[in-house]
Parts: sequence; C-alpha cells; structure tokens
Amino acid sequence: MANSVVSITVGQSGEHVATGREHWSSRMAFVLAAAGSAVGLGNVWKFPYIVGENGGGAFVIVYLACIALIGLPIMMAEVLIGRRGGMSPIGSVRTLAVRAGRSLNWQALGWICVTGAFLILSFYSVVAGWAIIYVVQGLSGVFTSAAQSGDAAGALKTLFAEILGDAGILIAAHTVFMAATIAIVSQGIEAGLERAVRIMMPGLLVLLAILVAYSALTTGRFTEAAAFLFAPDFSALSAEAVLVALGHAFFTLSLGMGVMMAYGSYLPRHVSIARASITVSVLDTVVALLAGLAIFPIVFAHSLETAAGPGLVFLTLPVAFGEMQGGNLIGTLFFLFLAVAALTSSISVLEPAVEYLQERFGGRRSVLTLICGGAIWLVGIASALSFNAWSEIKLFGKNLFDLLDYLTANIMAPLSGLLVALFAGWVMSKTAVMDELGMGNSVGYRLWRFVIRYIAPVGVAVVFVYNLL
Ligand code: PHE
Repeated sequence: MANSVVSITVGQSGEHVATGREHWSSRMAFVLAAAGSAVGLGNVWKFPYIVGENGGGAFVIVYLACIALIGLPIMMAEVLIGRRGGMSPIGSVRTLAVRAGRSLNWQALGWICVTGAFLILSFYSVVAGWAIIYVVQGLSGVFTSAAQSGDAAGALKTLFAEILGDAGILIAAHTVFMAATIAIVSQGIEAGLERAVRIMMPGLLVLLAILVAYSALTTGRFTEAAAFLFAPDFSALSAEAVLVALGHAFFTLSLGMGVMMAYGSYLPRHVSIARASITVSVLDTVVALLAGLAIFPIVFAHSLETAAGPGLVFLTLPVAFGEMQGGNLIGTLFFLFLAVAALTSSISVLEPAVEYLQERFGGRRSVLTLICGGAIWLVGIASALSFNAWSEIKLFGKNLFDLLDYLTANIMAPLSGLLVALFAGWVMSKTAVMDELGMGNSVGYRLWRFVIRYIAPVGVAVVFVYNLL
C-alpha cells in the first residue's frame, strides 16, 4: 500500500481536491473503524468509574445530553473537515482555511489535534497494558485463587497495587501494546486498520453481551445497578461533573484529537456523514451503558465502592470472575477483549500523526509509523513510572499520568472541539459544508448548522471557562 502520494487536482468547483490516496473500502468499513476508535477504554474502564465518582443517574443524563447535543454534531464536523480537506488534520484545516480566504492561524487547530492524540496515546497505552497484564494473570488462575483466599476483593486489591508498583511489568505491557498498534498502523488503511477492526469488533460485542447476561442473571443486583445508572439524583451532581461529562463525551467519541478528521479523509464521497456519525455515536453509547450494566451489579453484590476511581474495572470484575463457573477463562477473555477494544482505539489515535508525517515528509509509512509510535512509547514510559518510581513527582497535585489525562480530556479536547465548531460553522463556506454533508437544506441540516454555530461553541465555552475560573 504505497499510496503515500497525494496528487492535487482541480475539482469542478475550481477547488483543489486531493485524490490518489487510500480509502475505506465501504461505508461499513468506516463505521467499524470509527466505532472501533470510539469504543475503547473510555467505555469499559473510564465511563463506569466516572459515573461512580459523580453520583450515577444525573451524571448519565448530562453525559447523554453532551453526546447528542454537542458530541454528535462535532463528530460530523470533524468528519466533514477531514473529507473536504482530504489530508491530515493539519493539512485539511490549513487547506480549507486558505480556500475560505481565512487566516493560516487556523492551522493551530490541526496542531492541537495531533499533539493531543500524541499525548493521549502515551498514557492510554499504559492502561491498555494493565489489561494485557490481567490476561496473563488470568491465564495463571489468579481470579480463582483470589476467591479461594476468602477475601477476594482484598486479594485483588493487593494484586492491583503490586502491578502498579512494578515499573518493569508496566513498561513491558505498554511496549507490547504499542508494538501491536504500530504493527497495524504501518500496514495502511485497508490492509491494516480496516482488517484489524473487522476481526476485532464483533468479538468485543459478543463478549460484552455475555458479561451483561452474567451480571443480570447471577448477582441479583441488576435492578439496583440499573437504578444507579438511570434514576437521576440531581443533588449528587456537581458543577465539575458537567465538565467531566463533556470531557468524557469528547473522549469516548474520539473527538478533539483529529481522529475523526483523519478517518474522514479516507471516507469515500458517497457515504452520508450524518448517518455514519449517528451510527457510531449510538454504538458507542450503547456499549458504555452495557459496560455499566455489567459492572455495577457486581459492585453492589460485593459491597464494593462505586467511587473506586480508575481501579474500578481492575478491582471489581475480577471478584466476580473468581466466583463464577469457568471464571478464569471468562475473566481472561474479558481483559483480552478490553485490550483489543483499546487497540482498535489506539490505532486511530496514532493515525493522525502518521498521516501528517506522510504528507509533510513523504517516505515509507512503516518507517514513519515506527518513528512516531516510538516517540509516543518513550513518553508513555514516564506515565508508567508515575505509578511507582516517580509517584512523588507532582504538578498541580497530580502525577504525570493524571495530569496528561486531565490536560487532554478536560482542556485540549474541549478547546479543539470549540475550534472545530467555529471552523465548520463560521469559517468554511456554507456551500462547501452543504455539499459535503449532502443533506440539502433539510431540517436535519439546519438543526446541525444551528447547533454547530451557536449551541456547541457556547456550551463548550461556558463549561470550559467555568472550570478554569
Ligand atoms: N474513544 C476512545 C475510548 O473511548 C479513546 C480515544 C480518545 C480514542 C481520543 C481516540 C481519540 O477509549
């Protein structure tokens, strides 16, 4: 797939149109890849624990509103910028700014995206590494032996603490994960990304269904969990929770990092951006809610803390795995698929930077992927060390891992989302946008345009500024 050449031709409307690059083979391929990007640690690891920390149902409602009112329209905007520009996030934004006769400073948006993606992947890979470590642990029967010790929750807590304390293991797992990410991305769009998601996505859904069924049928606490997730108690909602919900809506839909722009740049012209984006958002939301329904019954059945933080998935589910029939196998599979879900996301996070390098310097994709992935791997080591050797090094009261998480999810992603909305709503010409969306002047289009010009920027700005103050 040596399709690194981007030839510029002149389209009918006199605008420059990039051609000769790789494309997704079908609408389905794009949807799988974008859903693969969206569904990841954010859904299975992060969503349940932030719901737990932020009081349940009321937070879920705010989160759903953020997805529908702000996330989805911004996803459409990103995809449309990517497909219209036909280049990396940086190249696309620049090209479109030039076409619209606007300042080249808009390039900054592309740079925020690519830098954010770079930073996210460095710590994302460390968490994915935890999942890999649990696969190995599961194979050695650790869930069952924890249950046999009489205090499964206690034993698993100790295990998790030991893993976090062991820099060597964390770095080894992070290395394995980055190597897999690099291996896939270096193969290109069709032979790499697309083939990977076609294999991995169906398996993920099946496994999640099994886990929900297990929770529903065996814990006896399903209703309680459903109430926790869906019955809102607005007194439990803090102002900060709104920011967290918005930040997470961006994170879980893979927004603000140029991922959807990069994926959009490979999207064939005939595919409807609105329909594909809706499918992806719905899939992502369903998976997050299912993950909650798999995890919280177990939390309640074992009197574990809902607000257990980042360790929730690694501390709670293994308790159940230890107690169920064949639990070591199911547990091992669960963490395998968690790692796989992370992998279908991590490849999308690496793509924007690789796409940019390819367009800027040319050369072999495999080499560029290795250079870029290698740099991310190095930064990731610092994140791994922030759990042990460097745990005392803190900035603003956060270790490096938490700092990167906060910076990317709560500052860079919203900032980038704000700029994306302004760019698609105010900078790009109305004709270009309408042509790309192909929705005519329908109600859907007008709704989208209103949201992207007013609701999304104001919403994101208010939450963002409120938080900074
Ligand atoms: N959406 C992914 C998840 O939920 C994470 C991600 C964030 C991927 C940003 C790409 C860009 O795990």
